[in-house]
Amino acid sequence: MTKLILRALAGETLPTPPIWMMRQAGRYLPEYRATRAQAGDFLSLCYNPELAAEVTLQPIRRYGFDAAILFADILLLPQALGPKLWFETGEGPRMETTTTAAQVAALRPTEAIHDTLAPIYETVRILARELPKETTLIGFAGAPWTVATYMIAGRGSKDQGAAHALKAADRATFAALINRITEATVEYLSAQIVAGAEVVKLFDSWAGSLKGADFADFAVKPTARIIAALKARHPGIPVIAFPREAGNGYIGFAAATGADCVAIDNSVSPEWAAANVQKDGCVQGNLAPHHMVTGGPDLIRETRRVVDAFRHGPHIFNLGHGITPDADPANVQLMIDTVRGG
Ligand code: CP3
Repeated sequence: MTKLILRALAGETLPTPPIWMMRQAGRYLPEYRATRAQAGDFLSLCYNPELAAEVTLQPIRRYGFDAAILFADILLLPQALGPKLWFETGEGPRMETTTTAAQVAALRPTEAIHDTLAPIYETVRILARELPKETTLIGFAGAPWTVATYMIAGRGSKDQGAAHALKAADRATFAALINRITEATVEYLSAQIVAGAEVVKLFDSWAGSLKGADFADFAVKPTARIIAALKARHPGIPVIAFPREAGNGYIGFAAATGADCVAIDNSVSPEWAAANVQKDGCVQGNLAPHHMVTGGPDLIRETRRVVDAFRHGPHIFNLGHGITPDADPANVQLMIDTVRGG
C-alpha cells in the first residue's frame, strides 16, 4: 500500500503528514470559476460528470494534494429522495421542506436515488481512471443529522432551530426522517465505493448543536450504522467522520462509530486533539481556514504548530473547515510548502 492517505488511515505515523483541503475545488480558484461558468450554475456542474471531474482535478494539478475529493454536494442525496433543491445566488441552498409524517412517508424509495445520482457515480469512475496513481479518491455524504437540518428548515441556519423544534415536538417523525436518510446514505456511499472511491467521509457539519443524549442518538448512532453497513459490504473501506464542533464529543467518537479517522475542526487546539482524540487513532485537521486569507508568518507558525502537535501519531493534514472563496491561492501553496518542507 503506497498511497500516503491510506497508510495514515491504517494507523501509520508518517514523517510528513499527507495533505488535502476541504473545499479544495472551489471559488478561490480562477480555474474553478471558469469551469462553473461553463457549466452554467453549481448544480449543473455537480451533475455534469466531465466538468465535475475537471474541477476535482484542478487542485490536484495545481498543488499535488495527496487526496482528491469527489466534486458534489451533501444536498444531492436529499434531492434524490424527492424534495426540490436550488441555490439562491449569494445566499446558499434552498430545499422544499420535509416536516410531517406524511412528507417523510412520501419520500422516494431508497432504490430510486440512483436514477438521480447516476452522474455522480460516473464522475467517480472518470476520476478513478484519471487521477495520478499516488492520489487517493475520497467520496462523501452528509451525516444524517446535518442533512436533516437542511431538509427540515429548507435552508441553512445558524442554530438548526427548526430541526431541534421538530425533534422536540414530534420525535417519531424526526427519527423516521433520520432513519430514511441513514438507509439512503448507505446505498449512496456504497455506489460511490463500487464506482472507485477508496475512502469515504461523512460530513456532520452541525453535530456541535446536538447535546447529551441527542448527540449519542443522532450523531453517533446513525454514523455507526452507516459505517457498520459499509464495512460489511466493502471490507476494509476506510471512513473519515467529521462531527464538526463536537468538542468533548470528539473523545471516543472513533471507537463509538467505527470510524478510521476523526476530522477535527479548529475550535479545539491541536494539542488537545492529540492528547484526547489522536491517542485512539488517525486524526485529520485542523488549521483555521482564515490563514488561507491572511497568510504570512502566522500561517507558517500555525501550520507548523498543527504538524508538531500531531507528529507522534497518524495524521492527515487539513483545515478545520472548508477554504473560503476570499482565500489567496498563494497561501495554499505556502501551507503545503510549510507542511512538506518543515
Ligand atoms: O470539499 C470539496 O471540495 C468537495 C465538494 C463539496 C462541496 N460541498 C462543494 C460545494 C463538499 C464535500 C461539500 C459539502 C457540504 N455542502 C457541506 C458539509 C461541509 C461543510 O462545509 O460544512 C454542506 C453543509 C454543504 C451544503 C452547501 N453547499 C452549502 C451550505 C453551500 C453554500 C455555501 C457556500 O459555500 O456557497 C453549498 C455550495 C457549495 N458546495 C459550493 C461548493 C464548491 C459553492 C458553490 C458555488 O460554486 O457557488
